[in-house]
Amino acid sequence: MRKIAVLTGGGDCPGLNAVIRAVAKSAHHYGLEVLGVRDGFRGAVEGDFIPLTLKDVSGILPRGGTILGTTNRDNPFAYETKVDGVSRILDRSSDVIKNLKERDVDALLAIGGDGSLHIALKLGKLGLNVIGIPKTIDNDLMATDQTFGFQTAVDTATEALDRLHTTAESHHRVMILEVMGRYAGWIALYAGVAGGADVILIPEIPYQLNRVARAIQKRAEQGKKFSIIVVAEGTKPRGGDIVVERLVSGRFDPIKLGGIGAKIGNELEEQYGMETRVTVLGHLQRGGSPNSYDRVLSTRYGVAAVDAVLESEFGIMVALRGREIVRVPLHEAVDKLKQVLITDPLLIAARNLGLEMGD
Ligand code: F6P
Repeated sequence: MRKIAVLTGGGDCPGLNAVIRAVAKSAHHYGLEVLGVRDGFRGAVEGDFIPLTLKDVSGILPRGGTILGTTNRDNPFAYETKVDGVSRILDRSSDVIKNLKERDVDALLAIGGDGSLHIALKLGKLGLNVIGIPKTIDNDLMATDQTFGFQTAVDTATEALDRLHTTAESHHRVMILEVMGRYAGWIALYAGVAGGADVILIPEIPYQLNRVARAIQKRAEQGKKFSIIVVAEGTKPRGGDIVVERLVSGRFDPIKLGGIGAKIGNELEEQYGMETRVTVLGHLQRGGSPNSYDRVLSTRYGVAAVDAVLESEFGIMVALRGREIVRVPLHEAVDKLKQVLITDPLLIAARNLGLEMGD
């Protein structure tokens, strides 16, 4: 093995630079050359590569974002290409293989979530040596106990809940915090417990508004004149639908979620006369410096991916199992989303605390 390439795909998250740094440092330690692919799979299709030396990764451990750039739009298997001035969607996967071959790249390390790892898996089936590294604030990838970026997003949401508490208490209001997570409630569940929320609503448990209102009324009867609700963006009412902000073409998942917080807030005001304010935390959850947990996890993932290259083990994803970093078949990571089960220990603990889950 002489040369590897690394890319960051999909939505960014805290810890991407920490992985890139670990890959570059570990590869250097073993005498491998590293190329960075710019803007995820766009760079792989277009042949946009940069060398990644030790100097390039110096000082990036605490930095949010990704020095390589990323995109959640460009899929080599359905790539928007201008042909004679007309935009067409083409399969450009062979360009990815050609570009890497031309540069004598032996393996591609794809740092990504569901969408990017699906692409990596398909490229692997075409013969490319691929290794996946599990990234996403959503923590919704199967086959790993945790993705990096998740814990930092939970910290950000927890801090937001702490801040909402003081203003909610002063004004005797209901405060709703809408958090990300797509179709998984991990951020809402963890931040809700860490931030002392009274109601946690997640996609896995369709809610009933009357249950939510009853929990708030019960608190009021106990003299608690404010309540905090944390709701995951992909949550829906029992018998109802998710709230879609808009559709974005070209994305792995064209659905841009958003608006469930406002929906619940309006309904609590209109149907129950509860003064409610809504905060959508949005991309604040994706930005900023990774916490120490994510720096360590990212670093371990980067080192483990280089180890796999050295042992010529491809078509795998590095994953956390307990305290160990293991290798799992890439398809196991993307076959199914990892959602919160009703048997999840933290969910059970939340219920035993008397927290309302809306069902
Ligand atoms: O998958 C990460 C994530 O932040 C989701 O939680 C969220 O639904 C989505 O990406 C937002 O994507 P975009 O950056 O395109 O708005």
